[in-house]
Amino acid sequence: MSLSPTAVPPAPLEDEPCNAMLESAETLTLLARRRSTKVVHFTTPGPTPEQADVLLRLAARAPDHGKLGPWRFVVIEGEGRARAGEALAGVSADAQSAAIARETFMRAPFCVMVVSTAAPHAKIPEWEQCLSAGAVCQNLLIAAHAMGFGGCWLTGWACYDARARTALGLADHERIAGFIHLGAPTEIPTERVRADWRQRMTRF
Ligand SMILES: Cc1cc2nc3c(=O)[nH]c(=O)nc-3n(C[C@H](O)[C@H](O)[C@H](O)COP(=O)(O)O)c2cc1C
Repeated sequence: MSLSPTAVPPAPLEDEPCNAMLESAETLTLLARRRSTKVVHFTTPGPTPEQADVLLRLAARAPDHGKLGPWRFVVIEGEGRARAGEALAGVSADAQSAAIARETFMRAPFCVMVVSTAAPHAKIPEWEQCLSAGAVCQNLLIAAHAMGFGGCWLTGWACYDARARTALGLADHERIAGFIHLGAPTEIPTERVRADWRQRMTRF
């Protein structure tokens, strides 16, 4: 069952006290056992419009140096999935790639294209703006899991092809941080090999 969006507190007003911490065994369990859903393992339902509003609101609470909001969301759902796939098919190299491109957004009921709008700024390095877009993607994934959806963060050739980005409506300086596919998982994922964090940790 997907959690009702009404279970999520409303957005706090500016200067209202917020949570510096919130002990939550459920959050820790979610992070300890989090797994993406393979894109071939999605079915309906995706988020309702009300759920999607909440998910995007929570995603947008990612850390953001300089309050720039250097990202934007493009929701690809319903018939929009075929339109977006057709846009990619139109810039595909051949008929076979075009057929694959048409399926890109049909595999899950709901997708959010998270677009990094990072641009030169007097104080905030573009790198930090890109990192903020990555944090938005992860926030969205975690929020979706907590709402009862499976999710998967994918990129692929379209993210690195200027014609494909234009076909999807991006400006020249914009980049795709990820396609976050969401829906109901048809299979329970099993654990996979993890990077050994101990081998990647040193101390000063
Ligand atoms: C920026 C980014 C792009 C990704 N793009 C792809 C992709 O195109 N194809 C893919 O199979 N996995 C991709 N992944 C990896 C999956 O999202 C996922 O993390 C991976 O399958 C491991 O599963 P887990 O999230 O359960 O650890 C990407 C991850 C990140 C952070």
